[in-house]
Amino acid sequence: MIAAHPREMRIIAVVSNKGGVGKSTTAFNVGAEAVLRGMKVLLVDADRQADLTSYAGQEILPWKGLDGVLRNPPMSLDPRPFLRPRLSGAHGAIEAMQLLGSSPHLPEVDEVIRSGFSDGSFYLRRALDVVKADFDLAIVDLGHSTELIRNVLGCADVIVVPTPANFPDARHAGDMLHEIGMVRGQLGLPRIEAIRRTVVSAWRRHPNAAGDAQVLSRLRDMYGDCLSPNILPECSYVSEANASRLTLREFREQYSRTGGPLQALVDGYSALTNFVMARLPEEIPA
Ligand SMILES: Nc1ncnc2c1ncn2[C@@H]1O[C@H](COP(=O)(O)OP(=O)(O)OP(=O)(O)O)[C@@H](O)[C@H]1O
Ligand SMILES: [Mg+2]
Repeated sequence: MIAAHPREMRIIAVVSNKGGVGKSTTAFNVGAEAVLRGMKVLLVDADRQADLTSYAGQEILPWKGLDGVLRNPPMSLDPRPFLRPRLSGAHGAIEAMQLLGSSPHLPEVDEVIRSGFSDGSFYLRRALDVVKADFDLAIVDLGHSTELIRNVLGCADVIVVPTPANFPDARHAGDMLHEIGMVRGQLGLPRIEAIRRTVVSAWRRHPNAAGDAQVLSRLRDMYGDCLSPNILPECSYVSEANASRLTLREFREQYSRTGGPLQALVDGYSALTNFVMARLPEEIPA
């Protein structure tokens, strides 16, 4: 089907050098919020753990996702045979949100990327270019592969770095920002305009109003305009929602829970989505 207007997909990367900071939850929920804003979204699972694949309700199938796409370039760089819609038990197949999944085989493509030498860093960009007319937004959930991180930093329009709103954890986000600039430089790309293109999204592990105010002000000193203005709260329903393949908004609706941390988290992801959208470039950079 030919789209009424040509889509020019923008790419959002969710990346952190710390594990368990909410990357996959952020990728999934920001993606779903973008769909609610009328966008056609591609979720890209770039983590061997394949959590995003599960959150999107799809089975983890070997060589049927990003691992398949990057398996044997340049032959295999077309992602279209591997796209699957998000499946939600409550809502069926959601065509506006497609998934390029992952599997535990993903680390095997690290070697493929390395053997591609300088070209290898651009395999993901080339793969995503194939579908740039089909989607408004791709959201890439990164694991810890240096090769895939380089690939994503070479093509992302906006980079979201989730971080716990406590120290010293929050300092790791600064290391990530530094790495982003360095990798872009090494790839011969304009060093990312760090202020305009990076979003630091903080979440609090333990609510502590007085301590939070202090932490927030320190985070603002460190990250300035990069810091998403809302702090995502801890909410015990997140694991349950993810395990049920529901976004937090759907989970809230399904269980008619209003108020409290769940509502605050739904509002938080909605605000984070708006903040990220406002940073997407109008023009695709060369
Ligand atoms: N706001 C939150 N409140 C409470 N728990 C959360 C929140 N966000 C995420 N979690 C939980 O923290 C764990 C890690 O979340 P998630 O999988 O999104 O992080 P990640 O950074 O992708 O982790 P990994 O490094 O393992 O890929 C999950 O069990 C998730 O349910
Ligand atoms: Mg994850």
